[in-house]
Amino acid sequence: MISTSSELRDAPAGNVLLKRYLSTRSRTESLIAPLSPEDMVVQSMPDASPAKWHIAHTSWFFETFLLRENLADYRPFDPAFAYLFNSYYEAVGPRQPRPQRGLMTRPAMSQVLDYRKHVDEHMRTLLQSPVNKVTSDLIELGLSHEEQHQELLLMDILHLFSLSSLKPAYDPRWAKHLSGRRGQFKPLKGGLTEIGHKGKRFAFDNEGPRHTTFLQSFEISDRLVTNGEWLAFMADGGYSKAGLWLSDGWATVQANDWHAPGYWQHAENGWQQMTLRGLEAIDPAAPVINISYYEAAAFAHWADARLPTEAEWEAAAVAGLLEQVDDVAWQWTQSAYNAYPGFRPADSAVGEYNGKFMINVMVLRGGASITAPGHSRTTYRNFFGPDKRWMFSGLRLARDTRQPGMVNSHDSEFARDVVSGLSAPVKSLSPKYFYDAAGSELFEAICKTAEYYPTRAETGLLTQVAEHIAALIPEHAALVEFGSGASDKTRLLLDAAPQIALYVPIDISANALKKAAALLKKRYPTLNVAPQIDDFSRAMQLPADVAGHTCVGFFPGSTIGNFTHAQATKFLRSAHALLGDQAHFIVGVDLIKDADILVAAYDDAEGVTGRFNKNLLTRINRELDGNFKVEAFEHLAVWNETEARMEMHLVSQTEQVVKVAGNTFHFAAGERLHTENSHKFTVESFTELAASAGWAVSDYWVSEKPQVALFSLKA
Ligand code: AVI
Repeated sequence: MISTSSELRDAPAGNVLLKRYLSTRSRTESLIAPLSPEDMVVQSMPDASPAKWHIAHTSWFFETFLLRENLADYRPFDPAFAYLFNSYYEAVGPRQPRPQRGLMTRPAMSQVLDYRKHVDEHMRTLLQSPVNKVTSDLIELGLSHEEQHQELLLMDILHLFSLSSLKPAYDPRWAKHLSGRRGQFKPLKGGLTEIGHKGKRFAFDNEGPRHTTFLQSFEISDRLVTNGEWLAFMADGGYSKAGLWLSDGWATVQANDWHAPGYWQHAENGWQQMTLRGLEAIDPAAPVINISYYEAAAFAHWADARLPTEAEWEAAAVAGLLEQVDDVAWQWTQSAYNAYPGFRPADSAVGEYNGKFMINVMVLRGGASITAPGHSRTTYRNFFGPDKRWMFSGLRLARDTRQPGMVNSHDSEFARDVVSGLSAPVKSLSPKYFYDAAGSELFEAICKTAEYYPTRAETGLLTQVAEHIAALIPEHAALVEFGSGASDKTRLLLDAAPQIALYVPIDISANALKKAAALLKKRYPTLNVAPQIDDFSRAMQLPADVAGHTCVGFFPGSTIGNFTHAQATKFLRSAHALLGDQAHFIVGVDLIKDADILVAAYDDAEGVTGRFNKNLLTRINRELDGNFKVEAFEHLAVWNETEARMEMHLVSQTEQVVKVAGNTFHFAAGERLHTENSHKFTVESFTELAASAGWAVSDYWVSEKPQVALFSLKA
């Protein structure tokens, strides 16, 4: 290991530029501390440079553009270094060919470090006295240049180490990219906007002039694409479907035999990634890095999205819509690296810094975890060839905003719930989405199957005890039914309790309400019916008609079992608030029984329940632009004794990738999508649940086997 020391004392207080100079130079030296002399000589590919070359070249920059020009009597450390360490400045003279930077066994590293010291000492002299604006701007450029080489040094070392069979760690304590949630698309309204650098602080010339540009309305993901999403792309044949790729990209994939991002390798127990900490297992929730523009564009195509333009990226960053802006990976944009309107490279040699590269490269925005602290800005324009991927380069997706008038089903609550349910580590969907028209019909059919006992058992019980329940209902009462559907069971109560003056059915389906109300009006001409279209699980108010009536709630069908315990408590509490302190609440509950009976009820021999379960996928396909292969999932019903609930799942029969609402989801073979819980109770457990929500059990009735129960709760 080489120990380096700039031996520079602190700059005098007030000499801000000298301070910045010293701290930047010393950061470079700290970056080579973990490297051996051999590590610093080798050039692993023409794009990369040896660490020794970076160390020398950054000093050459100050020597060539500042000391030679501004310090009288400055004597170069070694005239031969002008050739060795010039990077690409034609105006300054010829240079060592770039691919041969790794052949420099001479000068020795010790000489390069002496060169560094020599330059630092003279820069200290230069900065002892005030410098003019042109010179201070050049020093700022030199420091930003050095920070760029600090990042290049890390990129180049990682590339070198990735080729070593030892897979050495540059620094085992190097910070990891944190796992996190998937990105969400954030909309930004279009219009005229200004982009580019403004103000007096340093920026590269390519960041200006600031100018006005027009943006269509668009959406941009607030986070970067993850390794998990990239694995889904790979599993879906992303690297073998020519149709996803730009022509040059496809040729590059073929020529380089790419099957995964840079630095990924497949091991027995899955994909691994070479990092500055050494070889590590891929973290699916961490952002994907080391991808080329070609790969980013193919992924975006596959994901039914696109890369943002650099103007979109900048506008979204300025608007505060983005996370992971500059602390993980540079982000590919779809913008070619061009001059902004009015851009002119400087006449001097440093005019070669940026402008002459404005061809055949693409812009990346943001910043990376290996970027020097404070180096980047929202206007910063990084650029690389579209086939390069040894940088810390990732992507965030963007897409065009749907035009007014287009139905954007992807913005619905259904879409949001499905996307978040499918994004969770254990995939799940809410059972409330079973009941589209086809699902409601299938549920009716389930109720008629030989195995599904709850409907028959509850109807039988209600017929038997209707008189008892009727005795609890006061004169002129209002019967409020939650999730009334066809109001089939209600008639048993209405027949037994003619004192009910008002019936308030609450249901999300306007159609079902209309039909039921019409039927009931015919049968009970004196009954007032006040239907309420609402999601019964969160109904907040009753129609004005209930004023002056005592309310009796009715919630049959053991639907309360489809809630989690927390949801059930919340529901019972809000029903209490809705029905008032004088209310009774009649609730139907399914009781715990033999697992065989339970499982058969949720997995009938004719497969009706299976069709009901899979219909959820058909609904997602239809309403959310999904592409579930319904036949690639199997219905599964299991009794979970610990949680006292029947569970329904859909089990993926193969490894597959599914798109829903513009998002992609990976299913492993055998992975389950949890679609429903149906909790079963004992008299005690339900009494406890009711009590936790402020209801006391005033009566209950239990049917013959298979047993279900009706509870009368008193507020
Ligand atoms: C509506 N709910 C009470 C039914 C249940 O038993 O949980 C839904 C159902 N799921 C499968 N079969 C029936």
